[in-house]
Amino acid sequence: MKSIVILISGRGSNMLALLEAKLPCRVAAVISNRANAGGLGIAKAHGIPTAVIEHRDYADRESFDAALARTIDTFDPDYVVLAGFMRILTAGFVSRYHGRLVNIHPSLLPAYSGLNTHARALHDGVKIHGCTVHFVSSDLDHGPIIIQAALPVLPEDTEQTLAARVLHEEHHIYPQAIRWLCTGKIELNEPGQVVFRGSKQSSFTLFSPALE
Ligand code: GRF
Repeated sequence: MKSIVILISGRGSNMLALLEAKLPCRVAAVISNRANAGGLGIAKAHGIPTAVIEHRDYADRESFDAALARTIDTFDPDYVVLAGFMRILTAGFVSRYHGRLVNIHPSLLPAYSGLNTHARALHDGVKIHGCTVHFVSSDLDHGPIIIQAALPVLPEDTEQTLAARVLHEEHHIYPQAIRWLCTGKIELNEPGQVVFRGSKQSSFTLFSPALE
């Protein structure tokens, strides 16, 4: 059975969705860069080993990433799963876990990489927004895409309501992506494309606003 290590920085709702999804993989550990991350308590309550590598204890990104990698490697995971891990990773770290490092981002990448995705989407008046699971590359939030969920932006949406609806879909697509990874349904090929084996594709058009 494959194993994963999950990296978090905060509340850990995506981590919880992964823990509750009964995935065909072992969650070897949850690691946080903040001792006060709410998700650490949830992981412990699920009997998952936890570790904290405080980024503030390190002089620079390189030394933090090296310490993080050393800790990850003690668990010898097949995949490293970023679930609300709010640190930019060095190119060295990313290449060490090439094809084994995945992230979830609250926008339809490549639109709205970075922070404050929902506020920026509302400001621009986009009618369709969503979330993305992707392999991590050294280009922030621009790695090869595994799965996306798209949803309409409603006229009455606030940043909070939009974030909540997107988060709800994050909790669907992240377990799906990790399930595909751990069962060998997808992999990153040499040119850096996500290859699917035998997946079903549904075809429909999301109109937003709806056609009349
Ligand atoms: C999620 O919106 C995720 O897409 C982003 O950070 C947030 C983490 O939330 N990278 P949680 O800690 O999983 O609840």
